[in-house]
Amino acid sequence: MKIRKAVIPAAGFGTRFLPASKAQPKEMLPIVDTPTIQYVMEEVENAGISDVLMIIGKGKRAIEEHFDRNFELESELAEKNRVEELNQIRRISEMCNIFFVYQKELNGLGDAVSYARSHVGDEPFVVLLGDTIIDTNNGNSITAEMIRVYEQHQAPVVLLEEVDPKKVSRYGIVGGKMLGNNIFEIDRLVEKPSVEEAPSNLAVAGRYILTPDIFECIDQTPRGKNDEIQLTDAMQLLLKRRRFYGLKLDGVRHDIGNKLDFIKTNILYALKRKDMGEDVRRFILETAERLKQ
Ligand code: UTP
Repeated sequence: MKIRKAVIPAAGFGTRFLPASKAQPKEMLPIVDTPTIQYVMEEVENAGISDVLMIIGKGKRAIEEHFDRNFELESELAEKNRVEELNQIRRISEMCNIFFVYQKELNGLGDAVSYARSHVGDEPFVVLLGDTIIDTNNGNSITAEMIRVYEQHQAPVVLLEEVDPKKVSRYGIVGGKMLGNNIFEIDRLVEKPSVEEAPSNLAVAGRYILTPDIFECIDQTPRGKNDEIQLTDAMQLLLKRRRFYGLKLDGVRHDIGNKLDFIKTNILYALKRKDMGEDVRRFILETAERLKQ
């Protein structure tokens, strides 16, 4: 079955980014001038997905407003003949069919995904974390690449990233074997294992293609790490019913919910921009030199 639907969980508190995330969604934090979640939507669009469900919560209205039309702003820009900005603003509201649902209590990522049950029906679907940008080395949408793996194997696929073996306890980690072409057959998933428990240093990296039987697995999943319903634990149940694959990322994952990653990603994207890259580079070099003295 062709994958047409995506789910973007964006309801989390974002406690790692306080105080900025107290009254504004961390998913709206800008990388240069574009909110993180808009990069996620571009990845979805470039994979040919037509319908997106965003899971939001209290204090997340700015996400709805960002993807809605703003007629007053449009007419202001049109009056001033600011065509480029006008087109940019219009394009955002025309990205895909977007739906919103509120996660009533923040019980973890597994619980957030369970809100997508009626939206996805009996179709396979993609889950993309709303605070995570994925850059591939070949410039392709990673969701598009994962869909190709799904189509080849007709089984769930998660994105995998190699992490520092000393830091495995921050991630969901997989066990299994590499098949070639960056495709990994998964036989085990563990949420935030200790260094001793970890079956590898391959971490689940914020992108998932799941089949609708994940919802029954979420129903059967008790609260796990951090007293939350963990998607990793539900996927471990799904793994007992189906073959399960990972695609190893050839590129970089930016977790914007982490302050250091946020700063690094902003610098990287600013350096790559034609309109400011050179100024930013000079500023960084001069500032680093001055602070050394
Ligand atoms: P995180 O693991 O970053 O959790 O969620 P968090 O609660 O948002 O942030 P911290 O750890 O307190 O800083 C990954 C993604 O899943 C969503 C978040 O919005 C984020 O995009 N999420 C998480 C939900 O939608 N609901 C939840 O209950 C938890």
